[in-house]
Amino acid sequence: MSTQSRMDRVSVTTIRNMKEKGEKITMLTAYDYPTALALDQCGVEMLLVGDSLGMVVLGYDSTLPVTMEDMIHHTKAVSRGASSSMVISDLPFLSYHCSVDEAVWNAGRLMQEGAQGVKLEGGRENAETVRRICLAGIPVVAHLGLTPQSVHQLGGYRVQGKDQGAAERMIDDAKILEEAGAFAVVLECIPSSLGKAITESVSIPTIGIGAGPDCDGQVLVIHDILGLYERFTPKFVKQYSALNKSIRRSVKKFMQEVKEGSFPDENHSFR
Ligand code: KIV
Repeated sequence: MSTQSRMDRVSVTTIRNMKEKGEKITMLTAYDYPTALALDQCGVEMLLVGDSLGMVVLGYDSTLPVTMEDMIHHTKAVSRGASSSMVISDLPFLSYHCSVDEAVWNAGRLMQEGAQGVKLEGGRENAETVRRICLAGIPVVAHLGLTPQSVHQLGGYRVQGKDQGAAERMIDDAKILEEAGAFAVVLECIPSSLGKAITESVSIPTIGIGAGPDCDGQVLVIHDILGLYERFTPKFVKQYSALNKSIRRSVKKFMQEVKEGSFPDENHSFR
């Protein structure tokens, strides 16, 4: 990477400044080189190598089976495609729960493979872990609300923070994580009013996914917005394309042409 492109890369400072200026932040997931390249060229500020890859790329039912090896593999591919976007990699289930030292180590591994920051799920119980990862010089994004690694404890993929007690606790969690050093916080699947309240209660940017329009930025799963994952589409997802339909159309056309003998034609053959 050249010095120039390193200087041009979105950083924690860029993200902080965007919040100060009231500029909305965009984040999308990316799991491979070509997608990272396309999103980077579009100018998406942050690419998230989300552990959602377990569901949309690897076909698991949840994010729980995703390993550090999976995250490293996909972080490497995304970082090869992203020269301007800031790459954030998820710490997968069990990679930061057993000990703080292990969490720092695993966060460091993702940085060594090309990430510029890590994300981890959970509230005040992670404050010490966030603090120690930050002390190692690693930018941390926190994640509150619907935290998919706890889906079994939450009783499914449901809206969180609906009653006043839970909402107040989440606002406090956001403040505690800011205090611990997180530079941004993802808010997933919470009422819009709570997304607004958290955004006004902390000075770090909030990145919403199903958290209403008042967050400082928005994140979605790339397979969801492109219509590549048809198994389950949450209410907060807006589909901008229907790529799966387009893939099926193209594959059927290819099969038809091969079977009837019209492919390959002269233009696609050597003399
Ligand atoms: O893994 C992921 O894609 C995420 C987003 C849903 C924020 O954590």
